[in-house]
Amino acid sequence: MNKMDKFNREIPYNDLPLLPPKADIETKSILLKTISAGRALAQLNGTLLNLPNPTLFLDTIYLQEAKASSEVENIVTTNDELYKSLVADRKIEDSATKEVLSYKEALWLGLEQIKKKPFITTNLCVRIVQCIKQNTASIRNTPGTMLSNTKGGVIYTPPSGEKVIREKLANLEKFINEDETIDPLIKMAIMHYQFEAIHPFSDGNGRTGRILLLLYLKLSDLLDAPAIYLSEYIIKNKAEYYKRLRAVTENNDWEAYILYMLDMIEETSTKGLERLKKITLAMETYADEIKNNLPKIYSKDLIEILFRLPYTKRKHLIDENIGNLKTVGNYLIALEKNGFLKSVKVGKEKLYLNQQLLTILEE
Ligand SMILES: Nc1ncnc2c1ncn2[C@@H]1O[C@H](COP(=O)(O)OP(=O)(O)O)[C@@H](O)[C@H]1O
Ligand SMILES: [Mg+2]
Repeated sequence: MNKMDKFNREIPYNDLPLLPPKADIETKSILLKTISAGRALAQLNGTLLNLPNPTLFLDTIYLQEAKASSEVENIVTTNDELYKSLVADRKIEDSATKEVLSYKEALWLGLEQIKKKPFITTNLCVRIVQCIKQNTASIRNTPGTMLSNTKGGVIYTPPSGEKVIREKLANLEKFINEDETIDPLIKMAIMHYQFEAIHPFSDGNGRTGRILLLLYLKLSDLLDAPAIYLSEYIIKNKAEYYKRLRAVTENNDWEAYILYMLDMIEETSTKGLERLKKITLAMETYADEIKNNLPKIYSKDLIEILFRLPYTKRKHLIDENIGNLKTVGNYLIALEKNGFLKSVKVGKEKLYLNQQLLTILEE
């Protein structure tokens, strides 16, 4: 019997093979791509580490990733709405924005957890999905989960039964944490397929799986801060993403899938690096111009606040000891008069937008 006979997309795939894959996952093309993807990633990491303040941009990068990863699942919000919601006191109304912000929290939670316990575990996945979904969901224990295409046709039915799911997750855990014979980037790709194919939750699997990618990059010391915007690639190549996942299941075609994932790493590292350079340049320009035009206001800390998030407000400046309420109010007004910021009202609150930063993030 060949694999095609065994797999039926309408029946829970309890025969999903355990890891490692029974295929050549170290073909020449894969190894070559692993080298170039690894190189691009290392360049991004080096640049991040050499920044004067390497943590400065993390919030925005994580938020961009949260937004894109949610968008893969058709949870769509705009950057503007997102950053405003993050900075304003006003309660968030829009459910997509809420979900994106929860996603970002889930990423931070994952990073905190792996600091304490440097492993990817089933429990960690459960905590992440609960944070994304803001509920108490756990491993699926009722049947009925299936993946459909937009026309409603079933494309994949994941394994069913909590025991089976937990066994497959235990095998995945062991593979991630113990198998040291495979290059981490290749392992990362394999792990993602397996997690999605197990599909342990009734919802949130795609997003949890993509957070795991970032955590894994951190755990394997490939990126000190997982400041990479992977989902941007998936959005652009979404049909291919689904097709590649399916082809592993249906044809054991690991090679094309792994190459896709490696290309994602390479392209988003390169783009991330370009974006980082643009932001640092914009920041230097702001610093120079503010020094020249508003010398009394200038400080390194102030510039950093203006580039931490696209929106800022008086409280952010006060919290960083830039001055008292009155002083920072005057600073912001002066910055607006000189064209560095633009004020916007959100409810009763006044926020200040750094349009240049937002534009770079949106490119
Ligand atoms: N054929 C497939 N086999 C396995 N996983 C798939 C397949 N097609 C899509 N997926 C994964 O399922 C995810 C969607 O699952 P879902 O639980 O709805 O996640 P979320 O709620 O985060 O949207 C996709 O993002 C993708 O990672
Ligand atoms: Mg979903």
